Order: sequence, then C-alpha cells, then structure tokens
Amino acid sequence: MKFPFGFCALSLVLLAQCGSGESTPPPAPTPQPPFAGTLRSVSPFPFGGAVSAGLLRSRPAYGQVAAREYSSITAENAMKMGALHPSPTTYNWTDADFVVDFARLNNARVHGHTLNWYTSLPAWVTNFSGDSTAWENLLRDHITTVVKHFRGKVASWDVVNEAFEDTGVLRNSIWVQHLGPDYIARAFQYANAADPAARLFYNDYGHEYSAAKRNAIFALVTSLRNRGIPIHGVGMQFHTSSNISDAQLASTIAQAGQTGLLVHISELDISMNPSLAPAATFTAALAAAQKVKYKAVTAAFKALPAAQRFGITTWNVADADTWRRGNCSCPEWPLPFDDNYQRKPAYDGIVEALQ
Ligand code: G3I
Repeated sequence: MKFPFGFCALSLVLLAQCGSGESTPPPAPTPQPPFAGTLRSVSPFPFGGAVSAGLLRSRPAYGQVAAREYSSITAENAMKMGALHPSPTTYNWTDADFVVDFARLNNARVHGHTLNWYTSLPAWVTNFSGDSTAWENLLRDHITTVVKHFRGKVASWDVVNEAFEDTGVLRNSIWVQHLGPDYIARAFQYANAADPAARLFYNDYGHEYSAAKRNAIFALVTSLRNRGIPIHGVGMQFHTSSNISDAQLASTIAQAGQTGLLVHISELDISMNPSLAPAATFTAALAAAQKVKYKAVTAAFKALPAAQRFGITTWNVADADTWRRGNCSCPEWPLPFDDNYQRKPAYDGIVEALQ
C-alpha cells in the first residue's frame, strides 16, 4: 500500500513524539468569525428589552440596537399608572403609544408593564379617600381603560407587580389596605374581560435569592390557576448579581417551569458590583464572569419546555441606560451592551447559550 507523502511525514512526527515521551500539543483553537446574527435572529423564543420612550426619541444608537436585537419590547416606565393616568379623568398615552409604535414598526411583540403596582402611582391615587367600592371602581376602571386602549397591540401584561415582601408575606400595599388580598384575582379578571386574547402575568423580583418569596409566589399563581382565575404566566424580574450562583439561578428557573405556566424572565440585568463599591471598575475578569452568568440564565431558560418559554427581557438596552446607576449612585455595568452600545462578553454568553 502506498501512502501519500503527507501521511508518512505525519506518521514520522508522531512516532518521534512517542519515542521521546512528549505529548501532542492541543490543537490551536480555530478562529471564530464574528457573530453575524442578532439576538432576535438566533433565539428560539422572544428575546427583548425594556425601553425608555425618551431615549428612543433622543439617542439614535439606542433605537438602532433595540430594533436590531429585540423581538419583544416592554416600556420601562411609560405604561405605569403614574405615567398613564395623571388625574382621575385624564390619560396620557403619548409615550406608551410611541413605544408601541416603535415595536410594531420593528415587528416586535409588546409586553405591557404594569397594570397594578404599589408604587409609581399618581398622587391622586395615593391621596384617594373613597370607600372600598370606590377603590374597586378605581382599580377596575384603570385596568379596563388601559387594556382596551392597547387591545390588539399589547400581547401580554404584568397585571400585578411586586405584591410580596421578600419574606413571602403579602405586601401591605395601598391595594391590600383598601381591597383586601383578593384584589389580585380581580385584577386578572378585569384584564381578561378587557382583552381575552392577552396573556396575563404575575411579576415580581427576588425569586432567585428568597425561597420563602418564590414559594409564596408559585403557591399564589398555582392557586389562582386552580380557582379558574385567568392567569397565564409568571414573570421573574431577575435583577440579579454576581453573588447568586449559576446553580441557584438555574434551579429557580426550573422551579418556575414546574408551575406549568408561561415563564418570563422579565427584567434581566446582572450587577457585577453587588457591594456597591463607589470606585469599582469593570475589569476583563468581571466581564468574563458576567458572560458566564448571562450564559447560565439563558441556558436554563432554554431548557424549559418550549411551550412555556414566553421569553427573556433585559431591563433596558445598554449600561449607559440602566436604572441601577441612579439607584445605587455607584458604578454599574449590568447589561449586554456597553456605554457605547457595543456588544459585551455578556452578549456573547447569551448567544452561545442560544445557538
Ligand atoms: O420622568 C420624570 C422626570 O420628568 C422627572 O424630572 C424626574 C425627577 O425625578 O423623574 C422622572 O421619572 C423617573 C422615571 O424613572 C423616568 O426616568 C422617576 O423619578 C423614577 O422613579 C423612575 O424610576 C423607574 C422605577 O422603576 C420606578 O418607576 C426606573 O426608571 C425603572 O427602571 C424602574 O423599573 C422597575 C420596574 O418597573 C419594576 N421592577 C423593578 C424595576 C427597577 O426598579
């Protein structure tokens, strides 16, 4: 048998290495071409972001990234009661409609946030002094008016947001005080009556760090479903951090899947400065660790049954836009795009998990 020259030469090299006891060096990594896709093109489920109407208007790079990358859009603030409903008899749709139009122009789903919350309320609500019937009318009229306004344009709603404390007890909100704990069920019924096609979510934070809270939330949504209340999904905000292990993030997502409901990672951002250090800097090591976390969250979400994967939404677009900087008055870089709207290693981590 005749071997080509290359084979003989390779054999000689290998024999020489065996004889000398040297091990074969590992193959050099094949250089990867730059990723040519986008989150929305590569993701098997909707991948989105929360957006600010003001930044969409004022910063071209912001809108370009959102349009290019997201197949789902949430208004960061424009659909909150304080923004939409400034007086008992007036609604201000301008910013919310602008965000909806942006999403529709870019063929993205719109997720509504939020019909009911304990905060970001207009002053007329915090000062409202009616009896329980008047409070019930206020709750019903707001939900009905907002959901009807966006019917056919907003696919889904966070109906009730953040009703629990981290201990797992129901927050003593203005709504509980005036309407009792079952206002939650009625809020879902009002939303469903206004748009029977809309998918309805209970949304909260802290599932990944408080077992008491997530167990209380999963018990609530299960009990609502068992009572026939129209609830379709659970939103887990995941304003999380480098302090939470990948295993903990993954098991929390898997537990949400066990409710049988749709699961939305609804406000994802990952702090790499959890101690709020005022002089922290974003090192390459932090960027690499953040990539691992984003990849872990995305992979765990992807492992859910396809029919339950409502999507992942990051809370705003780029580090420059994050609510966290204002909240902590400290350096923060929690998002997949940097201050110049360039993709970070965190972005690559998401893509690696999605592909
Ligand atoms: O628009 C007004 C501006 O006119 C005014 O001059 C300025 C003065 O304070 O305030 C501006 O409003 C601020 C608004 O963000 C828009 O920038 C509010 O004060 C500020 O409280 C508001 O913060 C938002 C916060 O929710 C409260 O509604 C954050 O942007 C937003 O990221 C944050 O999002 C929440 C989710 O809705 C629920 N889950 C937690 C998440 C992070 O806190």
